[in-house]
Amino acid sequence: MKVLVTRPVFDEELGVLSASGHDVVRLDCAGADAAARLRRELADHPDARALLTQLTDRVDAEVLTALPRLAVVANIAAGYDNIDVAAADEAGVVVTNTPGVLVEATADLAIALMLAVARRVVEGDAMMREGAFRGWELLQHPMGVDVSGRRLGIVGMGQIGTAVAKRAHYGFGMEVVYSSSGRKAAPELDVPALRVDLDELFETSDVVSLHCPLTPDTRHLVDEARLRKMKPSAILVNTARGPLVDEEALARALSEKWIWGAGLDVFEHEPAVAPALLAVRERTVLTPHVGSATDAVRRAMTARAAANVRAVLDGAVAVDPVGTHSRPSGVRGQADEVVSR
Ligand code: GLV
Repeated sequence: MKVLVTRPVFDEELGVLSASGHDVVRLDCAGADAAARLRRELADHPDARALLTQLTDRVDAEVLTALPRLAVVANIAAGYDNIDVAAADEAGVVVTNTPGVLVEATADLAIALMLAVARRVVEGDAMMREGAFRGWELLQHPMGVDVSGRRLGIVGMGQIGTAVAKRAHYGFGMEVVYSSSGRKAAPELDVPALRVDLDELFETSDVVSLHCPLTPDTRHLVDEARLRKMKPSAILVNTARGPLVDEEALARALSEKWIWGAGLDVFEHEPAVAPALLAVRERTVLTPHVGSATDAVRRAMTARAAANVRAVLDGAVAVDPVGTHSRPSGVRGQADEVVSR
């Protein structure tokens, strides 16, 4: 069956699909006009049964209509806010993601950003390269803040949030508080953590780290009002999704020192970054959406997406179905197939 791959991937990790006899077709939908390119490319493949997407591909009702025989959209990412899951469900198309395999790498980056901001690693590096280091002084610049023993507030205590909590608690003796829309109670987590409401979390944490999905409810979860509630000494870390934060408000919060610093791997309008945020050079570290970017993890994500495609095309239950597919639904072209988590 025909499997469309929207952008470059690790080809070896897709071998499982060719080995199963599927026809893997590579498209080239990267670039500034990605959405238009995707639509143009799809027009040539109305017989496609699977679409392997990345988080920069927007899969909406129009895309689904262009592929009337589609059975599965396998997103090579943990997040899937780029996919209209309700429209896919309506069309009988399974949507899958790649959770699990990127948990540790993303948690590592959240901790790296927290430490880089707290200890001003990037500013120190720039000083060294500019020849501005004059030798050790007690009243040294740049001066950092401690994280050890401080309070970490985690928004979204899923797998990545929990992995960050473990590193922070067992590695740095941080006191962990969290807020979560999930039902998991604190005793079910294998790290000591206190569940608090969102306002208390923002008001009392020394570091706030975001790990919730982007949904209409969480867009601009960190807005001017929340930023003003944070401690002036606090650090915000975002390795989840850019639109969780009102980027212009954050730029003001940093330049006007409502908060101490920020470590950001994701941005509201990627790949663009608000010029006002780029202009903030102190206590702010920006990385280019690399939370899962280790060779092994990106390969594992590709393999996991391929496994999802193979499962659905084989008429089996997807490994990682998301959203509304947790309820049984017929898969288009496989009328008897039931997809459930
Ligand atoms: C990356 O941001 C992902 O969702 O996998």
